[in-house]
Amino acid sequence: MKKKKLAIEVSVYDSITELSQTDKTLMLKAVEARKNAYAPYSNFSVGAAVLLANGKTVLGNNQENASFPAGLCAERVAIFQAGAIYPNVKIVSVAISATSKNYQVSNPAAPCGSCRQAMIEYEQKQKQSVTLLLMGELGAVYKCDSIADILPLAFSNSFLE
Ligand code: THU
Repeated sequence: MKKKKLAIEVSVYDSITELSQTDKTLMLKAVEARKNAYAPYSNFSVGAAVLLANGKTVLGNNQENASFPAGLCAERVAIFQAGAIYPNVKIVSVAISATSKNYQVSNPAAPCGSCRQAMIEYEQKQKQSVTLLLMGELGAVYKCDSIADILPLAFSNSFLE
């Protein structure tokens, strides 16, 4: 037996003001997008902004449902929308921001497991890394160079061949 270490590295910015202009603009769109979240059950609103290689930005936010599992996270609303409208355009980066009516979200938003899996599908499909920017309501921003960084040992279509 031997041990294998799976390490990840993220860039940590103290605030949105430290980001490049492109990243800052995308994050501000995620902040705007979270305002249209439909989150009456959790009071936790998430916004996602997907930047495409053609310069377009596609937005999403969480959409909840009285039948809880029927709702969908912001990341999947946004990335599925991007795939639906621009199926052949590469995804450059995804910015995510979260806020809560119950407390101050100061930690960078962490995409759930299903959203990580959904996002890595597009990274694999386009054979090009997707940059991820994570923020709470304000405060520190994590920047990951690839979705694969936050989903080690990912399942992929290579298992289906
Ligand atoms: N949520 C997201 O939108 N993205 C995530 O990655 C984690 C959770 C939403 C789903 C639900 O509407 C609320 O946050 C609380 O779980």
